[in-house]
Amino acid sequence: MTYSKEVAERIFKALSKFYDQSERIPISSAHLSGVSYENIGEEGLYFINEILKEGKVAVYTTVNPMGADIYDNIFGINDKFLKRQREIMDAFLRLGVTDSFTCAPFDYFQIPIKNSHVAWAESSAAVYANSFLGIFTNKESALSALASAILGETINSGLHSQINRRTVMKFDLKDVRNEVEAGIYAYYISKLVDRPFSVKMRNEMDSIMKKSFCGALGAVGNVSYFKTKAYLTNEYSIKKEDIKKEFNELCTANSGEIIILGCPHWNHNEIENFVRKMGQRNLRKDCLIACNKRAQNELITRFGKETLNKRRIFLFKNACPIFSPLLKEKGIKSIITDSVKAAHYYRLRNIRVNLKPIQKIIKEETE
Ligand code: F3S
Repeated sequence: MTYSKEVAERIFKALSKFYDQSERIPISSAHLSGVSYENIGEEGLYFINEILKEGKVAVYTTVNPMGADIYDNIFGINDKFLKRQREIMDAFLRLGVTDSFTCAPFDYFQIPIKNSHVAWAESSAAVYANSFLGIFTNKESALSALASAILGETINSGLHSQINRRTVMKFDLKDVRNEVEAGIYAYYISKLVDRPFSVKMRNEMDSIMKKSFCGALGAVGNVSYFKTKAYLTNEYSIKKEDIKKEFNELCTANSGEIIILGCPHWNHNEIENFVRKMGQRNLRKDCLIACNKRAQNELITRFGKETLNKRRIFLFKNACPIFSPLLKEKGIKSIITDSVKAAHYYRLRNIRVNLKPIQKIIKEETE
């Protein structure tokens, strides 16, 4: 047995104790977190580089974004960080993961077949997988997903079992009109539930609303599965003032120095929609959109990089702007975003947030 498999076995042993369950089931894919140097630092780099030196993933595996756009360092992140981030990327690629570096692996990469079991670590992706893709995963930690990827198995616990997927509370989301409201409702619900729940939607959520809902739900609390239904009875009624209160806690500024979009990652269609909605107008501030490299390739053929940059749109490729030294290095203290998940994390980092939907961003931040 290789040393990396031994380490993975030790992680599983600890998990089995924790879950009081030793039965394992095969997985069809894994998604790993713990990729940004901002998060894992020297210790994490040492772990992947040295401890897992001869390791190989046993199943199709995608990975989370990095802490910087290492291909085009337009925002001037320091060289040491970029060097370390590249080393982390290389170490993951040596493990045999797919060159993905995204928190929305369902957009460009192999989607596991329905009803299959996977081990996905990114919280927003785990909620999305369970709730919209019909696959089964727990919200894995960086270590448990890594062990699963190496062994091709997971512990048969939590949301892998039908009995734990029974929904208890029911919510009517009739008032949800945009991605910020979708995120705020999810953020509020996450504080009320400790088991899967059902939501009734009047209108189908668009792709960014879905990502926003899953991102916010995954960011707080422990529930990674909900069902959407057209009809519910005895639903819990969410008061408008409670939603307003959540919003006011996250929206802490009237404006911001930079616009940050793409949390979770936008695909090229979502970015193209945003650009088309801008019409002939240009942004007044730099707008960074987090996305996968493949989204940029598609967009460049449609718009050209210079045209996007002239309009002050910059793609932050294969990277996450939140778990990044980006704002600290630029001395930025306030941002504009449409992402409740981003607002949640920025608040924890003392960054002031102007939270508003794309439509309002275009109205207020373009000329
Ligand atoms: Fe993705 Fe980073 Fe947001 S990993 S979901 S862009 S916090």
